[in-house]
Amino acid sequence: MKNNLKTNCFDLPQLGFGLGLRTSHYNHILRHHPDVDWFEIISENFMNNHGYSMHVLEQVAERYPVVMHGVSMSIGSTDPLNMEYLRGLKQLANRIHPAWISDHLCWTGVLTKNSHDLLPLAFTEESLKHVVERIKQVQDVLERPLILENPSSYVRFKQDSLTEWEFMAEMANQANCGILLDVNNIYVSSVNHAFDPAEYLAGIPMERVIQMHIAGHTHCGTHIIDTHDHPVVNEVWELYHLAQQKAYGASTLLEWDAKIPPFEDLHAELKKAQHILLHGYQTSEKTADPYSQESNVSNPLFIDKAGVDELQVIELSANA
Ligand SMILES: [Fe+2]
Repeated sequence: MKNNLKTNCFDLPQLGFGLGLRTSHYNHILRHHPDVDWFEIISENFMNNHGYSMHVLEQVAERYPVVMHGVSMSIGSTDPLNMEYLRGLKQLANRIHPAWISDHLCWTGVLTKNSHDLLPLAFTEESLKHVVERIKQVQDVLERPLILENPSSYVRFKQDSLTEWEFMAEMANQANCGILLDVNNIYVSSVNHAFDPAEYLAGIPMERVIQMHIAGHTHCGTHIIDTHDHPVVNEVWELYHLAQQKAYGASTLLEWDAKIPPFEDLHAELKKAQHILLHGYQTSEKTADPYSQESNVSNPLFIDKAGVDELQVIELSANA
């Protein structure tokens, strides 16, 4: 929320309410300059890109604050950090001057193979130490704090000795990095793994939360898939309201990556977040979901995935 007197620990700007920059909205944005506070880009879609998309991004960046959000850093992998990727990230940052750079607390591959998915980590002291060291390396290369997001998850490791929120808090404090708190992901994982989302929020060092994500998901009865193709549900709005009450002016971003509606519809959904911060949350404000129940996984780089409805929430062994 803009003009909040409390500031986050890095004194990063409070950008207000933003949307993801997606190709289907380029023309609308360039023509109408909509009243959106800021835009988030998927970094990989613009790295080494010298075509029309970069031309659009440069025009957008002249008018709006921009944040770079990546999906390929693989901060939790046992592979060495990809220095070529980090140099590309920095090159893009030097070109468009983002307010900050974020990625996910996950691993995306191993032995140089990229799964193009955000895979869960074991929450152990060993993996915490590993991730903290790598975040410090990344921050040295990028010369700025890294902001890491809690991903949604569908499996847990038997070896977990920390909760996800304990891991996030320790990670952020030890590495001196920021947190992108995805409120929808907290809710999705809380249903999939049966924990209390309010307890999650209570365990997070809120002065390190620079940004929040809100999004829609698909409830499959026994579990939730993080599809980013529906309006935000009541439970997530309630959690968002609670999180913002504790936060230090964290910027808000509405994610919508599949079955993307017209810009005006997206903007209207974003305005609900602003309304909730100003006037509180009323359950009666819920609107009917106009979108179908078909689901896609929410990776905006690779959204055409099949078979996710068959996914079962299971326990994994780290030795498996
Ligand atoms: Fe997110």
